[in-house]
Amino acid sequence: MTAMFQTESLCRTFKLPRTRVLGAHASRRALDNINLTVNPGDRLGIVGESGSGKTTLARLLLGLDVPTAGSVSFLGETLPLADMKSFRRQVQAVFQDPRSSLNPRMSVADIVREPLECLNIEESHSARVDESLAAVGLSKEICARFPHELSGGQRQRVAIARALASRPRLLIADEPVSALDVLIRDEVTAVLSGLTTNLGLTLIIISHDLKVIARLCDKILVLHRGIAVEHGAVADVFRSPTHEVTQRLIASVPRMPVARNAP
Ligand SMILES: Nc1ncnc2c1ncn2[C@@H]1O[C@H](COP(=O)(O)OP(=O)(O)O)[C@@H](O)[C@H]1O
Ligand SMILES: [Mg+2]
Repeated sequence: MTAMFQTESLCRTFKLPRTRVLGAHASRRALDNINLTVNPGDRLGIVGESGSGKTTLARLLLGLDVPTAGSVSFLGETLPLADMKSFRRQVQAVFQDPRSSLNPRMSVADIVREPLECLNIEESHSARVDESLAAVGLSKEICARFPHELSGGQRQRVAIARALASRPRLLIADEPVSALDVLIRDEVTAVLSGLTTNLGLTLIIISHDLKVIARLCDKILVLHRGIAVEHGAVADVFRSPTHEVTQRLIASVPRMPVARNAP
């Protein structure tokens, strides 16, 4: 089986602004030697404290940033691919805050349709818009509305629908429920869960909410200061976390649910 994503010794270092204390060449290693395989159908959760490198990893996988060392390959080909439009049709993203990721001047229909135009998808756009909205449980009536006329949960559903419009094989979601109220979090988590089950979508989700990871994921990667300190099946890692960071993350959750894959 060809891996969907494979990273080899992936590193990303950021130069820090020049200061008298740190000197001219100070830099921060945001990701250090990450070797990760994501297979078709995987549901991988990435967790770690703030600043541990989660978003940096997501951006590298999305081809939005370039490694300092090492590589990312998609279906066996190293990024950037010659045909990045084909890559973007297959790999889509959802970000944290739908208020800033949705254009306030565009209607829902135009928002969901936009990637179809950018990615030169020729099939009927209105059929794809309807299909994408239905996949996230929104009715067609919402098409003429604007983001400010929607609830927080509806806005994030629209962002997910936009990501689904090109019928991707893989979705990368960076803290997709963190900006939402607790009840709405459940609603959006249920939508994501449905997509992995019904569409067979491969999912990479970043969340600091381990309950979300337990509900959606079968694998987990724990990052700490850019290093992968734990990586394995969610059920195993939750049952016997080996790294202190993972133990702390688990201990901070009241009434931790059992992972859905736990025996
Ligand atoms: N564009 C950038 N320039 C400088 N430093 C950055 C940049 N992006 C991220 N970093 C640094 O890299 C580290 C990891 O950041 P990030 O991947 O955003 O963490 P997380 O998403 O886990 O909170 C942090 O120390 C952050 O300050
Ligand atoms: Mg982040």
